[in-house]
Amino acid sequence: MTTITRVTAADRGDWDELWRGYLAFYKATVPPEVTEATFARVVADEELHGAIARLDDGRAIGLVHWLTHSATWTTGVYCYLEDLFVDRSARGAGAGRALIEHVRSWAERTGAAKVYWLTADDNATARALYDRVARATGFVHYEITLD
Ligand SMILES: CC(C)(COP(=O)(O)OP(=O)(O)OC[C@H]1O[C@@H](n2cnc3c(N)ncnc32)[C@H](O)[C@@H]1OP(=O)(O)O)[C@@H](O)C(=O)NCCC(=O)NCCS
Repeated sequence: MTTITRVTAADRGDWDELWRGYLAFYKATVPPEVTEATFARVVADEELHGAIARLDDGRAIGLVHWLTHSATWTTGVYCYLEDLFVDRSARGAGAGRALIEHVRSWAERTGAAKVYWLTADDNATARALYDRVARATGFVHYEITLD
């Protein structure tokens, strides 16, 4: 059984471990001050939102972050699911699906017009889940990085 709760200040240790795991999956690093600011903004639950999945014994095994933004094709907002991670030891047992459902349900309550996210074309594991719970749009992601 997986329980999902909002990230609070008391979750710092568990959040850190999951965030590190997520960054390691992407072979990415972010400066400590960014991690610090991200945690603070998630805990504030205003512009950024986050939830942690736990097993019955309390062990934190998964993390999701999301945000909303205005859009021209709706009078409301879109919900962007930015980060999703489940610890390797707990994968394949429904935590990822439950975390997406948590965001979908939050977005529905908030009145968002849709929930969307990006993934790497070759992330077959994640896409096996996504193909079960959402529709692939076929859009290709471009970006210009600014220093
Ligand atoms: C993607 C990820 C979050 C999925 O989490 P998870 O808890 O393992 O996912 P779930 O157990 O909820 O899987 C849900 C469905 O996907 C299927 N699935 C999960 N892993 C699979 C795999 N390796 N191969 C095939 N199907 C798989 C499950 O069978 C399940 O389907 P079902 O409920 O119909 O049986 C997790 O693998 C992860 O954290 N990966 C590394 C980080 C990452 O890729 N994040 C997403 C970036 S966009």
